[in-house]
Amino acid sequence: MLKFGVIGYGYWGPNVVRNLTSLEGSQLLAVADDSLTARKRVQKAYPGIQVTPDASEVILSAEIDAVAVVTPVWTHYELAKAALENGKHVFVEKPLTFKAGEAEELINLAERKNLKIMVDHTFLFTGAVKKIRQLIDDGTLGNLYYYDSTRVNLGLFQHDVNVIWDLAPHDLSIMDYLIQDSPLGVVATAEKHLNSLEDIAFLTFYFPNNIIAHVNVNWLSPVKVRTTMIGGEKKMLMWNDLEADEKIRVYDKGVEQTTSREGIYETLVKYRTGDMWAPQVENTEALKRELEYFVDCITNNRTPINDGKAGWRIVRMLEAANQSVKNRGALVELRREELAAA
Ligand SMILES: NC(=O)c1ccc[n+]([C@@H]2O[C@H](COP(=O)([O-])OP(=O)(O)OC[C@H]3O[C@@H](n4cnc5c(N)ncnc54)[C@H](O)[C@@H]3O)[C@@H](O)[C@H]2O)c1
Repeated sequence: MLKFGVIGYGYWGPNVVRNLTSLEGSQLLAVADDSLTARKRVQKAYPGIQVTPDASEVILSAEIDAVAVVTPVWTHYELAKAALENGKHVFVEKPLTFKAGEAEELINLAERKNLKIMVDHTFLFTGAVKKIRQLIDDGTLGNLYYYDSTRVNLGLFQHDVNVIWDLAPHDLSIMDYLIQDSPLGVVATAEKHLNSLEDIAFLTFYFPNNIIAHVNVNWLSPVKVRTTMIGGEKKMLMWNDLEADEKIRVYDKGVEQTTSREGIYETLVKYRTGDMWAPQVENTEALKRELEYFVDCITNNRTPINDGKAGWRIVRMLEAANQSVKNRGALVELRREELAAA
């Protein structure tokens, strides 16, 4: 039985706690939050669980095997580092850290201590992303052309990170998982309207093989939109995460170029407009699947798909995007270097 502690019971922490209390093979022993209101909420919902204002009580507990860090981004590095130093496996919220160098340190520390890092890239465990990955792997979509996502809503304004660091980690982790390659560079533009943090942003990533990815994130949208279009050589798809049924629609549409008998100077463009179908998508809560997988990775010594290295790749993309924004959309190249630890 794997024993867990959770640090942070604000907006997202209750979801992690709820899932950990019902997971087979794991037991939640303690929750730490420095806010009295948050601690009262835990105590009311889970009277049997130890509640403390002090994160170090969780980190130093001899009984706890794994710690979930569900606090604001700027605290992830220190808390995850302390947990690893004290022999705990860590489940860290996205994005893993504020700086790629910090992520690298955590990866090296975990390797030295033979511990697991899992970054909460929740969307990788949704039925939709699993289905899209299957459609790519089995060749249904063909070679990828583009990934184009809109993730916008009104708020929730964060105090420590801009809209890129808040919302884009979802798309970047999905892209990283689906495209299965590292971007060559990014061009990003953004603007701030209410405080010193950007609230709307447009990110464009260039990948090898002419794959291009665009992500629009916005805290100032009158409506909530969660749509992603993925174009492939053979098929194209539209994923609307707010749809209850038919979240994914696959279109047998595309363009083919042929050359006429007169020669290459008369290239013909043929449009293909075939059927549309909506594949079945599994509906289990992604966070439940992810935490089950974390327990499995620890128990059976497997490397998670969303390990520290995946977290590092996302932080690198975020850092590069921020740098491009600072330079009003100048291209920031991402050298195709791998981690020293990789
Ligand atoms: N995976 C997802 O879909 C998803 C969704 C929302 C948020 N998140 C991530 O979860 C993390 C937390 O976000 P949130 O919206 O819940 O934030 P929040 O501010 O609502 O909650 C954070 C909680 O942590 C507590 N806290 C902060 N520092 C602490 C410390 N050192 N010791 C003990 N308690 C501490 C605060 O008192 C607060 O209750 C962020 O990294 C965010 O990106 C992930």
